[in-house]
Amino acid sequence: MRFPLSTISGRTKVAAVVGYPIAHSGSPKIHNAAFTACGLDWVYAAFPCNVGSASQVVAAMRTLGLAGLSVTMPLKTEIAGYVDALTPAAQALESCNCLYWDNGQIIGDSTDGVGFVRAFEFETGVSLKEKKVAVLGAGGAARSIVEALGAAEASEILVVNRTAQKAKSAAHLARQARVGSYEEVAAADVVINTTSLGMEGGPDPKSSPLPAQYLRSNQIVYDIVYQPRQTVLLKAAKNVGASTYGGLSMLVHQAAAAFELWTGEKAPIKAMNDAVC
Ligand code: ATR
Repeated sequence: MRFPLSTISGRTKVAAVVGYPIAHSGSPKIHNAAFTACGLDWVYAAFPCNVGSASQVVAAMRTLGLAGLSVTMPLKTEIAGYVDALTPAAQALESCNCLYWDNGQIIGDSTDGVGFVRAFEFETGVSLKEKKVAVLGAGGAARSIVEALGAAEASEILVVNRTAQKAKSAAHLARQARVGSYEEVAAADVVINTTSLGMEGGPDPKSSPLPAQYLRSNQIVYDIVYQPRQTVLLKAAKNVGASTYGGLSMLVHQAAAAFELWTGEKAPIKAMNDAVC
């Protein structure tokens, strides 16, 4: 079923992504496919909003009655200071990527980490509980993932990053986390790349964030990079016989978590996945 634009009415609910730049965002495709698949009278747009606009964005959500907002760079941290309340994850991370309504209040949440956990467990069929996990990188994505791995009860979380201070800060986000070394990654059950190494259009698309000698055949290697589908890291992991997964599913599952907060309905994962494939 498709909702042609001519069906938009005075009752249509509006959700959107805010950030800058925004023109190439994949979110409208994913969310509009989800609304259509569920037969919801909702539409999802993209609004370019730059640094310094967070308070106006929250005011606009209230004034215009926007039903939900996705928040991306560069507003994720700034907007956390203007919502009515933060979820525990958003509070720990001091960052929001999703705004939703609860009892007339605008709540800021961070669905990246939970999106990762849901994507990982959906794709692999393996629970992260009691797993020893190595996280490569310590930027915004890594921080969300470390926090969510803590909540998912991973037994140990090693944060391995070029800049030690950032690794230390990320490791504070979960009781089970500590700063680790490349050598220690060899003993992990799960390896997650959150750095931009290997990403098309990134600073170093031909590099891997981990020397191949630390990869093992019994590991599950998940690269949150999704462009290209097969990164240098994933190729090396495949070569040693490890199970490999690219980042497209995290994109879908963090959007699914937002969809569920907004609509209260179960997200149509297949339709959302088809929209990005
Ligand atoms: P995001 O919000 O997507 O996580 P980010 O906050 O810019 O992006 O973080 C990028 C991550 O990739 C960081 O961990 C960064 O390492 P530093 O903390 O040392 O900067 C890592 N990264 C980027 N380029 C790298 C490189 N050439 N070698 C190693 N790590 C790199």
